[in-house]
Amino acid sequence: MTELSRPDDGNQADERSGSDASSAERPPGPSGLPVVGSTLTAGRDGLGFTDTLVAYGDLVGYDAFGEEIVAVFDPEVVETVLVAESDAFVKGAFEMALGELVAPEGLAFTEGEQWRRQRTALQSSFTPDKIRGYADEMVERTAVMADGWDDGEEVELGDAFADLTLRILTRALFDLDFDAESGAVVREAADAIHGVVDRFGLLTFLPEWVPTPVERRYDRAMTDLDAMVDELVAERRTQSADSEGDDLLSLLVAAADAEEVGVKPEEVRDQLVTFLFAGHETTATALTYACWLLAGNPDARERLDAELDAVVGDRDPTFADVPALDYTERFIREALRLYPPIYAIYRQPKEDVLLDGYGITTDTTLQLSIYGIQRDERWWDAPDEFRPERWTDEKQPDDRPEYAYFPFGGGPRHCIGMRFAMTELKLVLATLARRVEFERVTEELDISMGLTLSPGDVEVRVRDV
Ligand code: HEM
Repeated sequence: MTELSRPDDGNQADERSGSDASSAERPPGPSGLPVVGSTLTAGRDGLGFTDTLVAYGDLVGYDAFGEEIVAVFDPEVVETVLVAESDAFVKGAFEMALGELVAPEGLAFTEGEQWRRQRTALQSSFTPDKIRGYADEMVERTAVMADGWDDGEEVELGDAFADLTLRILTRALFDLDFDAESGAVVREAADAIHGVVDRFGLLTFLPEWVPTPVERRYDRAMTDLDAMVDELVAERRTQSADSEGDDLLSLLVAAADAEEVGVKPEEVRDQLVTFLFAGHETTATALTYACWLLAGNPDARERLDAELDAVVGDRDPTFADVPALDYTERFIREALRLYPPIYAIYRQPKEDVLLDGYGITTDTTLQLSIYGIQRDERWWDAPDEFRPERWTDEKQPDDRPEYAYFPFGGGPRHCIGMRFAMTELKLVLATLARRVEFERVTEELDISMGLTLSPGDVEVRVRDV
């Protein structure tokens, strides 16, 4: 376990550091250009930049987006920050800048008691029983989508899965049939946020803006999104006077009306927006990579088909099948290892601390590199290869640290939707594989590090099976 020590606890993390985190050596790293630091490189070519950083060590300091950043490539340090000493860190300025754009009072961005109260209240929508209740919806929506494709049709997977996962999410969590128009409002808001973030870098967008087309688009999109969310809440408020639903939207509306401890009235909008965003884009991105991998790996496809023949047969999969879908699970795990949709997690220490002997001050943003660690050859043989079979029980090396793999984060703030997402990923993949095959039209992915690890446009040709 990596030792963490604060300046006043007299605890020495290692000889190099001395006892004072404020004066301890900073981690080595690239110097970048004066003023802009490494912003240009990090922003333009995130993957290449991550490769460059790894060469400096397990903790690497650099300046970008107007911030001091320390990239972390050591799974033990990740565990310290996310789990063992999670109370010593907050999400910090880097994350809050994004929170301000999306939903500052939503679960993903709040801290302390407010976060704890919300997490407890919202957890009830993600129990195993609840997930079981969402499973049929996941399969049915996927079947409708696949049945709508013609044999030989070319499909852009990113758009198709964004639409699908949004429909599944809103039906499952909010008991809503999201029409194309509502879907378009959410997608436009997501695209507009990407536009603002891409243009300014993650932190530098907050100062007063000169209104440019990008910001005007963002303002318009958020106004439309807020109007839609207000309408949904008002409608549900009227309905819940007659009947009591137990979906998340009804719970939020009821809790807010009753002013119960849990979610406050002014937080309802931000919770809805948080789940609309956090719950669909990540899963859509994961499915896009998974189906592109499926198209390019005939052996894996054969093994997946063999498992589905044995477990599912000619019907569609159900929740009861999920525990027996071992290979499907390995396939998804491996896709999330190679292409983690959330490729880094950000934290800031509440007080100056020592990590691995280096001084990390309160104005430093720690960037826990999911992407870098999940492709580190110290923990993974042939790390850049897609090998679902590496997840067989007998091949788990004993010396691989737990946090060499953390696509859903870890500790108290791990992804609240993890079970939802894993069930959805397995059931959607299995439902699709029973109906269609994919041929790659896009041979090379155009990966970029935006808010998620974007694969660019991914076109495949669909063939009926
Ligand atoms: C493949 C799909 C998904 C991936 C890779 C993913 C990844 C993550 C990660 C890494 C975190 C931790 C962030 C941090 O510690 O700073 C997180 C948090 C979160 N995720 Fe997910 N997620 C996925 C799907 C979902 C789904 C389906 C939902 C909701 C239905 C969801 C809702 C959330 C929320 C609300 C948080 C914040 C939790 C908190 O701070 O207490 N995610 N997710």
